[in-house]
Amino acid sequence: MKEKIFLTRTIHDFALKELKKKFLVEIHKGKIPIPQSTLKSKIKKINGLICFPYDKINKEIIQSAENLKVISTYSVGYDHIDTQFAKEKKIRVGYTPEVLTDATADMAFGLLIDLLRRISEGDRLIRKGNWKQIYGAYDYVGLDLQGKTLGIVGLGRIGKTLAQRAKAFNMKTIYHNRKQISKTEEKKLGVKYTTFDKLISQSDIISIHVPHTEETNQMFNMKNFKKMKNTAFLINTSRGKVVNEKDLVTALKQKIIAGAGLDVFQIEPMNKNHPLTKLENIVLAPHIGSSTKETRNKMAEITIKNLILGIKGKKPIYSIGY
Ligand code: DGY
Repeated sequence: MKEKIFLTRTIHDFALKELKKKFLVEIHKGKIPIPQSTLKSKIKKINGLICFPYDKINKEIIQSAENLKVISTYSVGYDHIDTQFAKEKKIRVGYTPEVLTDATADMAFGLLIDLLRRISEGDRLIRKGNWKQIYGAYDYVGLDLQGKTLGIVGLGRIGKTLAQRAKAFNMKTIYHNRKQISKTEEKKLGVKYTTFDKLISQSDIISIHVPHTEETNQMFNMKNFKKMKNTAFLINTSRGKVVNEKDLVTALKQKIIAGAGLDVFQIEPMNKNHPLTKLENIVLAPHIGSSTKETRNKMAEITIKNLILGIKGKKPIYSIGY
């Protein structure tokens, strides 16, 4: 008897083909994200689950599973899964780090260049027919990257890769992390460790690379925006909930900070009437940090490998907890 697997939405054809050779595959075809009630009933009899960052794989869902061996998420983030409870139930959890490191660091750096050089702002200006005069000395003036201080909050794989990009552009990089990295690695990356408070007050650009946890929930709020330079920019490609969006709107409107580049939001997809969409000093992206053809293919490969290993009772290539 083939094992049963369920996907909360479809993935790449090559991955499906592989899965269908091995398992009885069912794919959710309705509303995205899958309603919790549907997920709760689907998870009951399956052996493997493939899910996505917006699915809520909480205790109640996991508890409904009678034969589940593995949860494989098509993402590096796993804050949508109760990994502790999965561990207690001896259910493996697989995720997809490493393969998306470059793509996500590129996205953060892309937002940084866009903000400093006002590329999206210029695009909006032309589309609205507001480009009236050519080449004025003070028109659409941006900022140099070289010499600016980039503050990286969370120096994991993505943070370190972003530091490499910054080094190539002659920026100064400071970082804050739970643990200071070795002096040798600091030297290689050209980064200096500092406290969180110093980082937020000294940086010209802050880029967030921490997971969403109880500790990091809304860590960027008005109290901290007020400590930032009023010329500083905030970039977030991690998780929307790390930033208090209401406070960010106020900080941007009142020019407490200069601008923001955001790829992640408290609620996704974001409504076109969200107050952030009304601001000029902001660049918005629809959660596409890992979204390159090459990276997404690799993520699909890892997602199915993790699932196959978990179904066999083995540890996924990248595994959380059990
Ligand atoms: C992830 O994999 O967690 C990313 O947020 C997807 O872009």
